[in-house]
Amino acid sequence: MEHQLSNNNPKELISDCLILPVFEGGGLLPPAKAVDDVSAQKLSGIIDSGDMEGKKGQTLLLHDVEGVSSKRILLVGAGKPDKFDADAFRAVAATAATQLNKTASEKAVFALEGLEVTHRDVAWQLRHLAETFESSRYKFQKMKSQPEETRHPLTGVTFCFPEEGDNNLNTSAVQQGRAVAMGAALAKDLGNLPGNICTPTYLAEQAVALADSFGMKAEVLEESDMASLGMGALLSVSRGSRQPAKLITVSWQGGKKNDAPVVLVGKGLTFDAGGISIKPAANMDEMKYDMCGGASVLGTLKAVGELKLPINVVGVIPSSENLPDGEANKPGDVVTSMSGQTIEILNTDAEGRLILCDALTYCERFDPAVVIDIATLTGACVVALGAHATGLMGNDDALASDLLAAGEYAFDRAWRLPLWDPYQKQLDSNFADMANIGGRQAGAITAACFLSRYTKKFKWAHLDIAGTAWKTGKAKGATGRPVGLLTQYLINRVMAS
Ligand code: BES
Ligand code: MN
Ligand code: ZN
Repeated sequence: MEHQLSNNNPKELISDCLILPVFEGGGLLPPAKAVDDVSAQKLSGIIDSGDMEGKKGQTLLLHDVEGVSSKRILLVGAGKPDKFDADAFRAVAATAATQLNKTASEKAVFALEGLEVTHRDVAWQLRHLAETFESSRYKFQKMKSQPEETRHPLTGVTFCFPEEGDNNLNTSAVQQGRAVAMGAALAKDLGNLPGNICTPTYLAEQAVALADSFGMKAEVLEESDMASLGMGALLSVSRGSRQPAKLITVSWQGGKKNDAPVVLVGKGLTFDAGGISIKPAANMDEMKYDMCGGASVLGTLKAVGELKLPINVVGVIPSSENLPDGEANKPGDVVTSMSGQTIEILNTDAEGRLILCDALTYCERFDPAVVIDIATLTGACVVALGAHATGLMGNDDALASDLLAAGEYAFDRAWRLPLWDPYQKQLDSNFADMANIGGRQAGAITAACFLSRYTKKFKWAHLDIAGTAWKTGKAKGATGRPVGLLTQYLINRVMAS
């Protein structure tokens, strides 16, 4: 999709549809007022009639409005002006894009003037418009024998705002929004693919393909390589599966040769049945999404490649299945991790931390600036934060607050949970250095406590995306989160350097 910027009067731009936001109870915004003035008060007439009240989600499509160069006008309700926040702004864009896709419009103009969000500038608005419009076209149809064709796909949007502003800043904001949407689309595709297609081998192939198309380096370790490295925790999980595990590394050298990289570690569990501690049948299909952490790493690398960010980034994805089998982990088994620490596996369903701990130890070789792991790690995190916030924990306050800020800007928000020492005791084991579960209380935190024992040598943050990586229910599907947060974090690092 093409995105353009314009400082012209929206009513004079030629397109298939001019999008005009309308506040509830407020007067017309300047672009709508300009249309009103040349169309014998058409818009205020409609508002007075009560057909468009400006309520959130409300839309009205008009054709051939006098004095307007676009073929159509789409009025979009923006809600109450005093409640107009980041969420509401994105909702206006999303509603507009959804409605447009139901019309035959291929080129649209979005009029921004007067649509102010507190504490957010035009660049922020453009970034979110670009992301929202770009991702509005996403549809997962790879598994349909007869994919539906979009008859009139939206191919271009012009964002129209009055002030000159910093043109470079605005242009890169649009590029960033687009890049995030493209990266998230890759993460969604990989997440939505079923477990019988998206295996560790498939993920590795996709990582190599991504690396090839952006001039990145990819390396895939086989089980024999992992055995040589002593990755006994990771391999204990894949032992119960017929699909060989892979340890995937993709690196982007956008920065100076010796700059320490940001390392992103994503859980790539392509199907989690729980192993011998098997999960209940209900919704087990959703455990195909247990590789969304890994998918978000590839999605973020894609966004980084699209933007050619001048920074070094390494993505590491430990990938395996977790299935019951005669060779599978059994409760009570003790395994030795690459770090040398031993682990008593009290629940084979707490497998994510087993594959991650070896991947985290592996990260030491990159001399990382920071390490961020991303994992659909615990049901407890879903209970704590629901589907709105990603759980954030870690050993470095500055890194944690940078990630929170990036999530806030990208509207891909995280919330920090404590990682205090007293929680560590819950992992005590009578037989090994630690247990792989910490009991019923504070499950998201004790999972992070487990990981913290493998991250002592670097600055580290953990993102538990169990609640945010996919939507359950009728709108079931991957969300592409937290590609927005991670990409923004990297952009912010570049800006600060
Ligand atoms: N992949 C799951 C976590 C999960 C569960 C994510 C439900 C999203 C929805 C993870 O491997 C797991 O099974 N965790 C267990 C840990 C427990 C055994 C300590 C859990 O959360 O139940
Ligand atoms: Mn599990
Ligand atoms: Zn899992």
